[in-house]
Amino acid sequence: MKFNKLYFGADYYPEHWPEERFSEDAKLMKAAGFNVVRMAEFAWSKMEPREGQYEFDWLDRAINVLNEQDIQIVLGTPTASPPAWLMAKDPEMFMVKEDGTRLGYGNRREYCPNHSMYRVYTEKIVTKMVERYKDHPAVIGWQIDNEFGARCYCDTCRAKFQEWLQARFKNLDELNEKWGTVFWGHTFSDWLEIPIPLRLGSNPLDTSPNPGLALDYFRFMSDTYVNFQKVQIDIIRRNCPRHFITHNLMGFKYPYLNYFDLAEDLDFVSWDNYCRTQWTMEADVAPSIAALNHDAMRGLKRANFWVMEQQSGPGGWEMVSASTKPGEIRLWAYQAIARGANAIIFFRWRTCRFGTEEYWHGVLDHHGIPGRRYKEVSKMGAEINQIGEKINGSLVKSTVAILQSYDTRFAFQIQNVNPQFKYETHFHDIYKVFYEENILVDVISEKDDFSGYKLVVVPTMYVLTKETVENLEKFVQAGGYVVFTGLTGVKDLNNTVVNQKLPGLASNLSGVEVEEYVSIPLYDENEIQFLYQDLEESYPVQSWAEILEAKGSVSIATYTKDFFADRTAATINTFGKGRVVYLGTIGTYEYYKGVILWLAKLVNLHTAFKVPKGVEVTERWQGEKKIVFFLNFTDQNQLIELNGEFIDIINGCRVGEEISIAGRDLLILTLLNLEET
Ligand code: GAL
Repeated sequence: MKFNKLYFGADYYPEHWPEERFSEDAKLMKAAGFNVVRMAEFAWSKMEPREGQYEFDWLDRAINVLNEQDIQIVLGTPTASPPAWLMAKDPEMFMVKEDGTRLGYGNRREYCPNHSMYRVYTEKIVTKMVERYKDHPAVIGWQIDNEFGARCYCDTCRAKFQEWLQARFKNLDELNEKWGTVFWGHTFSDWLEIPIPLRLGSNPLDTSPNPGLALDYFRFMSDTYVNFQKVQIDIIRRNCPRHFITHNLMGFKYPYLNYFDLAEDLDFVSWDNYCRTQWTMEADVAPSIAALNHDAMRGLKRANFWVMEQQSGPGGWEMVSASTKPGEIRLWAYQAIARGANAIIFFRWRTCRFGTEEYWHGVLDHHGIPGRRYKEVSKMGAEINQIGEKINGSLVKSTVAILQSYDTRFAFQIQNVNPQFKYETHFHDIYKVFYEENILVDVISEKDDFSGYKLVVVPTMYVLTKETVENLEKFVQAGGYVVFTGLTGVKDLNNTVVNQKLPGLASNLSGVEVEEYVSIPLYDENEIQFLYQDLEESYPVQSWAEILEAKGSVSIATYTKDFFADRTAATINTFGKGRVVYLGTIGTYEYYKGVILWLAKLVNLHTAFKVPKGVEVTERWQGEKKIVFFLNFTDQNQLIELNGEFIDIINGCRVGEEISIAGRDLLILTLLNLEET
């Protein structure tokens, strides 16, 4: 979707403040350079205080006051936080947790997304909002609900799951066979007998559920939210053809919904970016984590995205997180733009004086008087007004893709395989190598077209399909490079182990077979020694080691310890015009760094600028024109050497060959000659 400007604003909760304050807020927002706010996503009980009694006048007034300052509105549908009168109608409307306990009233996201009465009331409130605001000149789009998530385990969901399965399998015989229910004699003779998966630890025998059943349940719950979202999207699309529709997702870190599916029905993806919250009290916040989240959110639709909630102060519910240091709010927000954000919306405008999030700080403190954070945000607002047009519509281009798979993530939630292994950490260890080298990557789906890339990295594709392998084969045939890591190809779509040597379906492409795998216990570790071309380092290997047999490929590394010392640990294979590296292990960041830097030379991956550690460089392309972002995440001045003549697009001045960036500051440059044309 194309936007006609860069959006900049805040999440605003007029329902928390007296109406006399609205115009003061709107003026302060205007002065800070805001052109958009999101609102109403938790205001159901204010819009419908009693069943059927709709009150929108207060919202009209808030919108109109903002509109007078040329601030546009994204409305949230309020279904994440239902009114008490609705939830009192039927206790079964409350979600049941994995351990079997039912939620009660008093938080949010407590509803069962399959409950038919909840859907009826959802349709009613969304229809009312749409009727009211479809022609309002200030309203530009909608956010559906708020941060979908959490699996429900209630009887309604169980019944819906049984229906979902009937559409997935031809008959019960097929289901029994595909899940392997003959194990422990769990064969089903009626769809109604199918349970919801038990959680490990929630039953006296402490066993985990049938993996096939559990994976299908996780897929079903993900489909449930896609479907619940679609109910709302359909109403809005029918009535508001001029408005966009989005949802605020939670980044790469959220593993419980298939975000590729959820994104499909949206005009664009939005996500909520919290870098330092009450739960991350570390002294330093790794910017690579936010970068991965941005890249993964951009990868969902391979398109620019919005940050619907961008941290603007210390987070906190029960505790207050470390303060955002001067410069950080602006730096984090520019990092989002540098990676494809088309809107920065700060959460929240003003810190609320009451409720669970009393300590979640916004642009303004509780008292509402502008302070340090308001100044920082305003500085950025002035800049965005200056440079927005130059950046708007520009795109991030990458030559490397990393594939992420929700089937694989769901399957690891059922059987983690080794206590030291965590998919998300493994993924980040690989991602971070590219991040530190300032090589841009796209984090995309296994179903995407890989043809524009030089290198595709496939971190442990545990659930592997024929289609994915064919897609990768096509890419390698044509000259692409692929890297697999261990634990690949172990499972089929039914989450049963494949009936062949590992890496299963990836065996032919990688020219390798796993003779035996070794799950390395906590008290032990092995080592991998590379001996190939100029790759000669050794690295520790924890958690997983596959003893490989090269079948047409060449061994590039061996283990150094234990009964499999000297056996092959990694290979390289030629396939068509391309090559495939298979790393039969789970290693550390340094390990991936060694291998990837070696590959980067082979594949000729470019890093545009050599910069000091702690400085992030990214590019967005406006047609042929490159816009380069230098973000200094350190506290000190950093010197950058430039290879060309550049213009600083914030102040319009030409910069020298060497330029210094202050701690927690940034530079946005374009090439001088292109700027002039
Ligand atoms: C987000 C949520 C917001 C607010 C924020 C801070 O996850 O969407 O409504 O709760 O966190 O806690």
